[in-house]
Amino acid sequence: MSDTTGSTSSKTPPPGCPAHGSAVQLGGLEYQQTPSQLYRTMRREHGAVAPVFLDGDIPAWLVLGYPEVSYVTSHDELFARDSRRWNQWPNIPADWPLMPFVGYQPSVLFTEGPEHQRRAGVITQALEGVDQFELARECQSIAESLIASFGGSGQTELMSTYAHALPARAVLWMCGMPQGSADTEQLVDDLRISLDAGEGDDPVAAYMRVGERIMQLVKEKRDRPGPDVTSRMLQDAAGLSDEEIVQDLISVIAAAQQPTANWICNTLRLLLTDERFAVNVSGGRVSVGDALNEVLWLDTPTQNFIGRWAVRDTQLGGRLIREGDCLVLGLAAANTDPQIWPESHVGAENSSHLSFSNGEHRCPYPAPLLADVMARTAVETLLERLPDLVLGVDPSELTWRPSIWMRGLNSLPVQFTPAVH
Ligand code: HEM
Repeated sequence: MSDTTGSTSSKTPPPGCPAHGSAVQLGGLEYQQTPSQLYRTMRREHGAVAPVFLDGDIPAWLVLGYPEVSYVTSHDELFARDSRRWNQWPNIPADWPLMPFVGYQPSVLFTEGPEHQRRAGVITQALEGVDQFELARECQSIAESLIASFGGSGQTELMSTYAHALPARAVLWMCGMPQGSADTEQLVDDLRISLDAGEGDDPVAAYMRVGERIMQLVKEKRDRPGPDVTSRMLQDAAGLSDEEIVQDLISVIAAAQQPTANWICNTLRLLLTDERFAVNVSGGRVSVGDALNEVLWLDTPTQNFIGRWAVRDTQLGGRLIREGDCLVLGLAAANTDPQIWPESHVGAENSSHLSFSNGEHRCPYPAPLLADVMARTAVETLLERLPDLVLGVDPSELTWRPSIWMRGLNSLPVQFTPAVH
């Protein structure tokens, strides 16, 4: 095993069970306001692999180092995806808050080995068939209609009226749902409720409706295929069953919606609050791409991802990892690892960040490109249509969502000169 993953550094505590006394509670305000400082402190105190407690004091490991996250994600034979391997199941209540992320489902997300290659291969092929120019045109048309719905008022809250709405509609269009129909709008709403329930919402009922509607879509596309992701998955020689395709389509839609929405919003926040970008945008320089890339390094949407489960006893970053232990991928911590940024400055010149993860289960290759088309079109269209867009509150009043998993704002209020149509 390589030095970065197997050796015990003199600074790190001796190997042990994640439940030992010095484990860090994975939660709290620091994750919302200054996560990079928190990760740096954790790394100093615990090394590249920190023992943590998840909700309800369930022990796990947080993998903080860039080489360690790369190692875990590229060694499936040691760190696998099927959550049924977890040695903590006897301690986990049925209503555990993280159950939606770790509860086993027969989808691409939890499959392993040749079965994963089969399922992920079908998704990759189907996504590869999406024409990026056509997607950009569709995103622009979605953006225009969303902007038209609030453009006359001179103010809006962009998270709900724009950043979440655009990728939901775009990904359903890719899957072959007609834009603008009442049926599609109902599905957009149910997706929002099931992925991000608000006060008074019933996420379980919404999730059931999503499943039923996607099953109906699969049946429609079996009868009348079209140039869309669903039809291509059905036509793939791998011969997935309708049930498998429904599971995987839900995974694709959910995996696309939340991270892309937060990528859009975090980028807009950067553009509206950071002098460097403000100057460049008004000066007509190409900087939206820089902002999108900088966000992936410094404010990546999927800041922590749960996760991987150890296939057998092994060593990682000087820690003894027991068979069945859970590892949380610290993607945001890895992106700012001082080992790759020794001067403590995090540059955004390249895209070697781990925001789309790495290895067999990484975000499938065409997806980051498609997400880039959605996010770039969303940001550029908004800035073109509402060129004097400014924040509606002081930057210090913007608050991050209380989540250690998804980094995004609670709201992004803006003001602008009302657009006349
Ligand atoms: C068009 C938009 C997107 C689509 C269709 C998509 C699709 C997917 C799918 C199907 C998976 C599961 C892969 C597997 O288990 O084999 C996945 C995983 C993932 N995606 Fe994406 N995604 C999109 C956008 C994004 C964005 C914007 C981010 C973050 C910036 C992101 C980050 C991730 C991460 C961190 C994983 C977990 C990989 C792992 O387990 O190691 N995705 N995505």
